[in-house]
Amino acid sequence: MDVVLHRGDIAARTAGAVALGILEDERPLAGAAAAMDRASRGAIKALIEVGDFRGRFLEVATLYPPALSAARLILVGLGRRAELTEHRVRQASGAAARRARDLSAGTLATVVHGAGRGGLDPARAAQAVAEGAILGSHRFTAYRSEPPGRALKRVEIIESDVALAKSLAPAVARGAAWANAACLARDLASTPGQDLTPEALAERAREIAAGAGAGIEVLGVPELEQLGMGALLGVGRGSVHPPRFLKLEREPAAPRARGARAETIVLIGKGVTFDTGGISLKPRENMNKMKYDMSGAAAVLGVFAALPSIEPAARIVGLIPAAENMPGGRALKPGDVVRALDGTRIEVTNTDAEGRLLLADALGYARRLKPGVVVDLATLTGAVSIALGTLAAGLFTDDEALAGELLQASAATGERLWRLPVWDEFADDLKSDTADLVNSSAREGGASLAAVFLKRFARGLAWAHLDIASTAWSPSDRPHEPRGPTGFGVRLMLEWLSRRTAASAAPQA
Ligand code: BES
Ligand code: MN
Ligand code: ZN
Repeated sequence: MDVVLHRGDIAARTAGAVALGILEDERPLAGAAAAMDRASRGAIKALIEVGDFRGRFLEVATLYPPALSAARLILVGLGRRAELTEHRVRQASGAAARRARDLSAGTLATVVHGAGRGGLDPARAAQAVAEGAILGSHRFTAYRSEPPGRALKRVEIIESDVALAKSLAPAVARGAAWANAACLARDLASTPGQDLTPEALAERAREIAAGAGAGIEVLGVPELEQLGMGALLGVGRGSVHPPRFLKLEREPAAPRARGARAETIVLIGKGVTFDTGGISLKPRENMNKMKYDMSGAAAVLGVFAALPSIEPAARIVGLIPAAENMPGGRALKPGDVVRALDGTRIEVTNTDAEGRLLLADALGYARRLKPGVVVDLATLTGAVSIALGTLAAGLFTDDEALAGELLQASAATGERLWRLPVWDEFADDLKSDTADLVNSSAREGGASLAAVFLKRFARGLAWAHLDIASTAWSPSDRPHEPRGPTGFGVRLMLEWLSRRTAASAAPQA
């Protein structure tokens, strides 16, 4: 969807709907709210006075003032001024856009909530409004015979100040790029396994790489055999759709001054296009959801789609091990031993713990690239949702500085991370009687156990693992996240990359 910034007067705007954020404790009305109240002959004041709207966070009301040139006026509560954050602005913008969409408004005009009396940085608030509008109104309709209602076509953010309008345009463009990238990740995760096989995922990746000025390499079975990616090959063996390994690579736009070599940053995304569990078959309940087991891969592809919007001063490499985890005559059996790229032999005690097998090979591959830092995103364990619920992803790393960077990006984007342990003692539970280690054993601490398994293959890397099984799917409609795949990680990684590479791009002494 298109979000654009215009200089103008919101109260005079013609649109299917105009949306306005209202603080709970800012009376009398000020700024855009006061102007809109005058233009609508006191309709907002009357609504508040009669007690039907207070501006509580995410409260939504729709008015139809005949005096307005817009067909509808949507009010969304911003809550108390002292509690206002960038993320609240994003959520409020999402709630308003969702209402506009549900009313088939077609076009929506709005303002930069939170920037005036709200006291937020105008550029950050403008980005959040743009993101929220796209994230909140997005819907996956590819498989519907009749799309339910009219999609929101266009959102205009109106700013009256000429200079401010000019300076906010890049922030709005960036917000639109980031949110559209997250929606791309959602759509990939929503696509049924029948249509998003490893080969189809590779095709989509080719398109995305081409659009983002990135190179791509797709390895098929013969290449994987030659390389020795026995873990990925093992997982893919039960399926008629053979595995693939994708490598995307984007160089920094301008070579850094004084010949300094740009850092290589590797992002790894788990790409299990469907997870039946394999011979260790999953129960039938909710197995349909397992089409989203490539959400890590989708996040990496979303990040690549939006890289032109941040032009990081680093080489970004995306690695996606892709396979379909199926039972079958050739499938891995419990007790089978696979040999990972780094030579480690893994006894597969549970074919449903396939994600860590794929990632073992991807981490082994990443080590050959001598990267400055590696982050993997994976819907790795059900256990992470038992630990954290669905509001935060698990963050696993021994690198304190990296943890700090990721947590800062998390706070800015509202994509929550919560740190969980990667103590070496967990590895006691991974001892194998037959091979070097097992891929699954104890139930207790399942998310950490999986992370410690990965840690063995990340030896020598600055590395963090994000277990996004908890957050990649929203169980209910949220203001900026409709039920289903969320695109989690796209905005988080873009924020982290832009902070990290802006800092590293500073002139060196
Ligand atoms: N893709 C699943 C993790 C998952 C489970 C994501 C539920 C979302 C919801 C992963 O491949 C898996 O099956 N993990 C197992 C690990 C176990 C066998 C050690 C799990 O969590 O049950
Ligand atoms: Mn599994
Ligand atoms: Zn899985």
